[in-house]
Amino acid sequence: MKGTFLIAFFETLKQKVGQEKFQEILNHAGYKEEPIIFAISDVDDEIFFKILHSTSKVLDIPLHQITEAFSDYWIHEYTQKVYKKVYQLYDSLKDFLLDLNWVHEMTTKNLLHPTPPKFEYQWENDHTLLITYKSKRNLIDMVMSHIKAAAKHYNEKINLQKIQDNVIRVEFLK
Ligand code: HEM
Repeated sequence: MKGTFLIAFFETLKQKVGQEKFQEILNHAGYKEEPIIFAISDVDDEIFFKILHSTSKVLDIPLHQITEAFSDYWIHEYTQKVYKKVYQLYDSLKDFLLDLNWVHEMTTKNLLHPTPPKFEYQWENDHTLLITYKSKRNLIDMVMSHIKAAAKHYNEKINLQKIQDNVIRVEFLK
């Protein structure tokens, strides 16, 4: 998993719960200190998952609440700084969502063995898109909250529904 993703995740936690609680989360996950991570490195997925689950335990909140906070930070703050130009390539949420494979291939291409998430698309009707999420990381709740945040970025209204373990229905309302 690309280091940039972990860096943004740590920043979300520090911003939301403060340095002291973040340290408690790290300790509970088995780390004495914050792991040193470089944005362009390939980082073991396990670091992310250990800290994700530790956050849920220490704060006593469900995983989806954590991924929602992360999505808001990732879409509205982190990628606006680091990958600002990507958003300018698309005029609408629909065009952005339909190009997520390219966005992820492009942002992970420096890794030796990239394993970005993959997305498949099927139109249910002219304003309803089914998105199938394919990744061994199984972060479908994060896909939901990222899409929700991206809709806010493009100032669009949508209905979102998880219809299978890895399939999301997006209804564009405008
Ligand atoms: C609605 C928008 C988005 C969705 C649904 C989405 C979904 C995801 C998910 C679920 C992951 C976790 C890894 C996995 O599941 O295998 C991920 C990772 C990642 N995303 Fe996104 N993403 C979105 C937007 C973006 C944007 C705008 C960027 C950057 C321009 C980005 C760059 C990345 C990177 C670099 C990773 C780490 C991937 C790796 O190391 O394999 N994503 N994304």
